[in-house]
Parts: sequence; C-alpha cells; structure tokens
Amino acid sequence: MTETRPLAVIVLAAGQGTRMKSPLPKVLHPVGGRPILGAILEAASALGPQRTIVVVGPRQAEVAAFAAAKGAAAAVQDPPHGTGHAAQCALPALEGFAGEVLILYGDTPLLTAETLTRLVAAKAGAALALLGFTPDDPGPYGRLILDADGGLVKIVEAKDASAEERAVRLCNAGGFVLDAGLLRELLGELTADNAQGEYYLTDIVTGARRRGLKAVAFDAPADDVMGVNSQQERAAAEAVFQARARAAHMAAGVMLADPATVYFSADTAIGPGTAIGQNVVFGPGVSIAAGVTIKPFCHLEGVSVAAGATIGPFARLRPGSVIGEDVHIGNFVETKAATLEKGAKANHLTYLGDVSVGAGANIGAGTITCNYDGFFKHRTEIGAGAFVGSNTALVAPVRIGAGASIGAGSTITKDVAADALALERSAQSEKPGWAARFRALMGARKAAAAKKD
Ligand code: UD1
Ligand code: CA
Repeated sequence: MTETRPLAVIVLAAGQGTRMKSPLPKVLHPVGGRPILGAILEAASALGPQRTIVVVGPRQAEVAAFAAAKGAAAAVQDPPHGTGHAAQCALPALEGFAGEVLILYGDTPLLTAETLTRLVAAKAGAALALLGFTPDDPGPYGRLILDADGGLVKIVEAKDASAEERAVRLCNAGGFVLDAGLLRELLGELTADNAQGEYYLTDIVTGARRRGLKAVAFDAPADDVMGVNSQQERAAAEAVFQARARAAHMAAGVMLADPATVYFSADTAIGPGTAIGQNVVFGPGVSIAAGVTIKPFCHLEGVSVAAGATIGPFARLRPGSVIGEDVHIGNFVETKAATLEKGAKANHLTYLGDVSVGAGANIGAGTITCNYDGFFKHRTEIGAGAFVGSNTALVAPVRIGAGASIGAGSTITKDVAADALALERSAQSEKPGWAARFRALMGARKAAAAKKD
C-alpha cells in the first residue's frame, strides 16, 4: 500500500520567476497573507513526510531561510536548467531515503492536503502518479497524452507540441509521486533535447513507460493547482483564496455583512456569531472569539480579540494587541502591543502603543501614548478603572494608578498615584466683559475703515 510507505517531499522553487517582474522571489509572493511556498509546505506537511527538501536558486538565500524556518532542507540549483535538473539537485538530500517521493512545483498556492492525499492514493497499482488538471485554457501547460486504457504515455510541453497534441485539454499541474529508487534512475536518463534546451522533469513519464511501468494522471480540481507566474496570476489565486476563505468562515457561523469586501489571511481564526462589517482586512495572526462585533473599515494584524468586544468603525489593531472581553475600540483608534482588559474603552481618535490598560478604564478622545523618544520604545501602564481625559499625552515610561483621573489636555510625564487627580495645564483665567468690549472696539474700527474707501 502506497499510503503506509515513508514519504519525502521535494518542492521545486529555483526558477527565476522572471515573469513576476519583481525583486521578491516568486515563491515568497503572498497569497492569503503567507508566501506561496508556505502554503505548499503546509499542504504537504499534512501527509506527514519524513523529509522535505526545497530546491532554491543560487541567489535565493531568503527562500532557503524561509524553507529552514518551516523545517525543510534547502538544496541549491546553480544555475537552473529546468524542472528535471531541479529534481536532480534534490537527490543528495534524499540520500539513504527509501519510500515514496512527492515532487511539487513551488508556484501553486491553492493546493490542498486533500488533493495531495488523493494524488498519492491515485498511484495505487501504478509506478507513477501525476497531478493533472483540465484548465479552461490549456495555453502554456504541458499536455498529457493518454493511451486507450487511460494510462499516461507522455507529457508534451506546449512549446514542443504538435497541433494535435496542443488540442488536448488534460494538462500537467506539476506534481509527481513515485518510488525514490525509480526516481533516481529516471532522473539519471534525462536529456535537454527539446525546444527550451532544459531538463524537463515531465520526461520521467516517458522513462517509466519505456520500462513498461504504468503511469496514471489524477485530474485535480483546477482551482487547487492554479499556477502563479505573473502578478495577474497571483491576484487571480488571491481571489480564489479569498472566495474560499469567505465561504469557510460563513459556513462556520461568522456573519459577513458583505463577503466580497472582507479579506482574510490563511491563519485568520474567528468564532461563531461574530459579525464583520464591510471593508475589513485581516492580516496574518488574527484570532477573534465568538460574539465579537467588528464594524466597517477596520484593519487587524497580529491581534487577539475576546468575546463581546466591539471594534471600529475605522479602527487599526496592530501586532501585539490583546483586546479583552467587552472592550470597546471606536473610530480612528490605533493600537500596537496594547493589552486592554475587560470592559476598557477607547472610543475615539486615540493611539495606544506599548501599553496595558486595566479593566474598565476609560481612555478619552485624542489620548496619545508617547511611546517613542526617537531612540527607544517605552511602556505606559494604566490601572483598572482609571479615567484619562480627552487630549491627554502620556509620555512613557509612565504609570497611571488604578482609579486615577487625568484632567483633559494634560501632558503626563510623572507617575500618577491610584485614585489621585492629575492635572497638567496652566490655570484658567477670566476677564469679565472683555469679549463684549473687544467686539465693540473692533466693530467701530472696521466701520471707520469702510467709510474711508
Ligand atoms: C511546468 C511544466 C508544465 C506544467 C506547468 C504547470 C515542465 C517542463 N513543465 O511549466 O508541464 O504544465 O509547470 O504549472 O516541468 N523550477 C526550478 N528550477 C528550474 C525551473 C523551474 O526549481 O530550473 C521550479 C520553478 O521555481 C517553479 C516550478 O519549478 O516553481 C515550475 O517551473 P516553471 O518555470 O513555472 O514551469 P512552467 O513553464 O510553468
Ligand atoms: Ca509555472
């Protein structure tokens, strides 16, 4: 049985990605808030591989570092001579491995663990299974040539195909499963005798057939295997990702006022019964409890929000924000590394950075935590039940005791004791009747000036 044999995964990611026209390596472009390569590694990891090898190009230290961070080994292909050559470069890292090898291309961000599992299962009774699909427009894809029994005979690249072969709709999506020993043999036989002068991995199918071995194609859902080669294709993959994410969150009981205007990341977690208004963006690392209200036009990233909280409209919650139960964050409020405990409120026009706000504290409109002195960041601590008046500047590091009150307009540079009132502004003075006298004087001057003209 194929499923019970040990599995190794090779992801080919060394291509230049020139069609992306971007300094960022193609496989690090994001889809659903994570690099394309990360999506593939995650889908493949669900199959429990013993080894995962990512083939990277010579100037792709960033890709190698990303692979290492995900627990994969990197093999360098220098310089890239095609997908077959890329697979050859992974062989040293496969040394001593016996079992099945799953080879994937690094530019298919929508692959699912389910599709990969079905591909591995499709190999039963054959020597090689290939991930195929039937795109609406087969355009540049390799065409799969089948025999009368439905067996896979060969893959012909579009550039090498005859008119008759180009008419075939079933195409290569870029995924192969075969025995490690057979893979080593077949890769050893590749030649670069084709239109692009490259070593094609697709030619291993011909090699298997030459040995009288059976190869099969698994026709996967086209959305799952969408390849990204250009910015337009990245955006198209993103659109499919978002459509899937919206459907999945709604199926889990999340209320989306206008689904098409809400954008998710792959790791966005939202509890049932939470309501999300129009035009909300979830960057990576967001987890929202059940029964939260997020009003329109909010941007959240690296944040957790507890039950009963109300966010927005027009709020920006940045990384490290921990929003407690029943907290209110209102319009034009920005938080960063801010912990707000149960029932705290910051309803208007406020910046809360590097701060902890105790339960039930009220942060008035226009309050700013001055957390940066131009060199270092400093923390502000606001105790439970404190009342911070409007337009207060809290110059960190500073502590406001529990239950303390800060008068509006204060610039607070020293700690304030619990239950004290702190006021930092000049005393108000008043001149009785001054405004009326001033009005009369200036009105007379203006009238005199008008007469002269
Ligand atoms: C390839 C397939 C084609 C298939 C299509 C599916 C071959 C010869 N062609 O074409 O049949 O329909 O994918 O999307 O395999 N890579 C390397 N080293 C290289 C070249 C490529 O690691 O020297 C990697 C790329 O980073 C990429 C993947 O292999 O992740 C596929 O390469 P790409 O150039 O995109 O192949 P296609 O022309 O799309
Ligand atoms: Ca491709």
